[in-house]
Formats: sequence, structure tokens, C-alpha cells
Amino acid sequence: MASFRPQGLTYDDVLLMPKRSDVASRKHVNTSTQLSRNITLSIPIVSANMDTVTEAQMAIAMARQGGIGIIHRFMSVEQQVRQVQQVKRAQSAVVEQPYTMLANQTLSEARHLMAEQDVTGVLVLDERERLVGILTARDIRFATDGTQPISNLMTPQERLITAAPGIEADRARAMLDKHKIEKLPLVDDSGKLYGLITSRDLLQTNRFGNAARDGKGRLLVGAAIGVVGDYVERAQALLKAGADALVIDIAHGHSEGVVNAIRTLKKHAPSGDLIAGNVATADGTRELVAEGVDAVKVGVGPGSICTTRIVTGFGVPQLTAVLECAEEAAKSGVPIIADGGIKQSGDITKALAAGAGTVMIGNLLAGTRESPGYTVLRNGQRYKISRGMASLSATIGRREREAPEQVSDDGFNEVVPEGVEAVVPYRGEVTEIIYQLVGGVRSGMSYCGVRTLADLREQAEFVPITGAGMRESLPHDVQFLS
Ligand code: XMP
Repeated sequence: MASFRPQGLTYDDVLLMPKRSDVASRKHVNTSTQLSRNITLSIPIVSANMDTVTEAQMAIAMARQGGIGIIHRFMSVEQQVRQVQQVKRAQSAVVEQPYTMLANQTLSEARHLMAEQDVTGVLVLDERERLVGILTARDIRFATDGTQPISNLMTPQERLITAAPGIEADRARAMLDKHKIEKLPLVDDSGKLYGLITSRDLLQTNRFGNAARDGKGRLLVGAAIGVVGDYVERAQALLKAGADALVIDIAHGHSEGVVNAIRTLKKHAPSGDLIAGNVATADGTRELVAEGVDAVKVGVGPGSICTTRIVTGFGVPQLTAVLECAEEAAKSGVPIIADGGIKQSGDITKALAAGAGTVMIGNLLAGTRESPGYTVLRNGQRYKISRGMASLSATIGRREREAPEQVSDDGFNEVVPEGVEAVVPYRGEVTEIIYQLVGGVRSGMSYCGVRTLADLREQAEFVPITGAGMRESLPHDVQFLS
């Protein structure tokens, strides 16, 4: 006989009870949290691994704000690796593998490399990997003969300012400033190139003090993988490129396919944190935790572009899912990522209060400048595309990429989509959106009288509300000015 659960609730069904507070300002709260067992973030926000939300540009912006982006997997392994590398190269204490060329390579080759990798300079080496010069965009701006060797144009070794590996950031900053240079190559006693410090990296480090960084000062980034096909090779390549976390992302994560994939990855791609989902029950969480994952992603059907619940009849209202999964995962100290259904900052506070370590967001970030794709104009308004990864267009696109020979006109009829394609209003820079979202959470913490997210989880008390309560919560009985 089927069993029956009396009620499931979601964010709009509840409010948090205000508590006595001695938090004088929302500046005085700390939003740091665990994404996974070994990854700490300074804000609890993760951008969704959707092809309309997270590629390198979004991941860079998210990590600079203290969150993290998960690069989607709907591209070739090489493309996804390049996205991860772009994030890892966006800033670092020391660039460990700067772009280099040999002194006898040509100006044309240098121009090609600089354009392809979007860099303003390359270091020039001899055959024994010793630094012999530096070539910058300024050196080649007016040069015409593309066949000449770059040794003709570079600043040669005797005029270079270099430093020893291990130089401290303050000292490097002073040298860059004193000599009015942008790049400081690090060279060991034998003249071999060790790395590069750039003024741009130092400025970025100062500017984004809360950024989520790895041990080498590089921005954190995650990458999504599946459980069939090339997923092991993909996982290995992503980890090699520097991905800090892999996210096994399957619509129904409480499945044998995911368990088998976790076991395989633990054997063949064991570094980095492994996150798996999506689940919506304590049972599902328990099984993934027992397999040794470092975080569990929770959410079946709450997303803005999801139709899973409508198409299949399955799902759990998101607040109940987060409460139950978080309670289970807390027994083993494994963080929960509440994925989908965040419509405003108050929903984030509720998800965190319910026990999530972080929230994953698609819709609210899909309209920003940093999401992939162009803006479209509709009735004079700017929009960006947001589409479910199980929508018709995304599914067909995936099949065309993976097995073009099997795609036919009939294929459209065979797809049973569990998501829709949509547009969302253009929202400008992601930094501003994140500021508002985190600002709401900070205020929420002060209403609860807590200074940490752990205390929010401890102290929170939910009260269910009715439709009338919801109406009262929204602006009402006024006419908006705009
Ligand atoms: P929001 O509400 O932030 O949710 O836009 C983003 C999350 O939605 C999930 N997602 C889907 N779920 N069909 C689904 O049922 C889909 O096609 C689909 N695409 C994305 C995913 O968990 C994402 O992070």
C-alpha cells in the first residue's frame, strides 16, 4: 500500500520567528559556511551548473564575491577544462605556469598565442627553460615583419627585473611599483623560470578580500559531471585543470547510477571534494553520505524552469526536503546545498535556517551580465535566456553534440522534457545581485539575534503561514510608482 505524508512545505509557506537581538548592524554578522567537507566559502551562494548560468565569467565573479560557481557539463571535455582553467588563471598569488615561448619563435606565433590566450605578455625561454626575456603587447604594437624572431623585440634578460621564488606579496608590490612594471618573473638560482607575479593579480587580491581562494591564491571553482559516457575521463581532466569540487548532477540522484559513479570516481578521480545529487529525502541523503560524498545537493523539482513535478508527479516541497536532508546529513557533518526555488533573499535565509550550508541559484543569476549568452530585446525590455537542462531544446542540443548521427526529426517527439525554455529580465552585474541577496541574509540573521550561520540553524523557529499571511507579507493596498 502506498503511504501518505501529511504535509510538505516550501519557502513561501513559512516565516521565521523574530528573536531578541543584540546585533546592532548587519555588518556584524559572519556569513561564512561550508560548501562541502573541505571547502569553506565566505558567502553561502553557489551559481547553478546550467548552460544559461555558469561558465567561467560567472564562476570568476562568484568566487570573487566569496561564493562559487559550478561550470555546467553540457560541452565537450576540452571546452569544460578550458572554462575551469580560465577561472584558475583569473587571479593567483603566483602564476605557476605562465605562457612561455622560445626566443627563436616568430612574432606571428607570439601574436597568435597572446590573442588566443587573451594575455598581454609572454616570457621568453631558452632550450633549458632559463628566462632570457619578456615580450609584452607594447613591444610588438608597431612591429610589421611577422617572420622575425621574438628575440629581436623582447626586453632582454639583462634589462629584466626579476625576483626569487618565495618573495612576499608586499615586497613584490614594492618592486613592481618602484620599477613601474606590470610583471615580475620569479627565477631560481640557476636562472630557471619558476613563476610570475603580476600587478593585476596583486590588485585583484586587494580588491576582493573575501574571495574564495585555494591554497595558491587562485579562485575556487567547481565543475559538473554526469554518470554515464565519458564521465571518468571528464572528472580526471577537470581535476587536473584545477577544479576544486566535482558535482555529480543527476535529476534523480538517489539511484544506482549515482552510487556506482561515486564508487568509480573514488577509485579513479579521488582528489577534490565530491558532491552528489539531487535528492529530496533523508533516505537518499543517507545513501549518498554513506558512499562518502563531501556534500549533498537537495532539490527535486523546485527550480524556476523545472517541470519534473508536473511531468512525473514526483518531488518534495523544498523547505521540507532541506529540513529532512539536512537533519540526516548533519549526523555525519556533511553539508547540504539547497538547490532551486530561490526567488528572493528571504528564501535563502529560510534555506540556511532549515540546515542548508549553501543555496544553489539559477534563475536569479541567469539574467546577469556574467551569465553565458546574449541579451534579447522584447517590447523594448532587455532579457536573457534561462532554460531547464532537461528542456526540449537543451536535450536535443545535447543529443546533437554527443551523437549527431542518431538525431532525426522524429527525435523531437521522443523527448519527454522536464523543463522549459524561458526569458528572465536582464539584471546587470552579478555583484549587485549578490550584494542584495547577501544583504538580505545578513539582516535576517540580525532578526534572529545570531552572528553565525551555525547559530541561525540552531536558533531558527519556523511558523507556517496561510494565503492571507502571504498576502500580508507582500506589499499590499498600494499602487506602485514604477
Ligand atoms: P532556480 O529556481 O534557481 O533553480 O532557477 C535552478 C535549479 O533547477 C534545476 N534544474 C532543473 N530541474 N528540470 C528540472 O526539473 C530541468 O530542466 C532543470 N534544469 C535545471 C537545477 O537543480 C538547478 O540548479
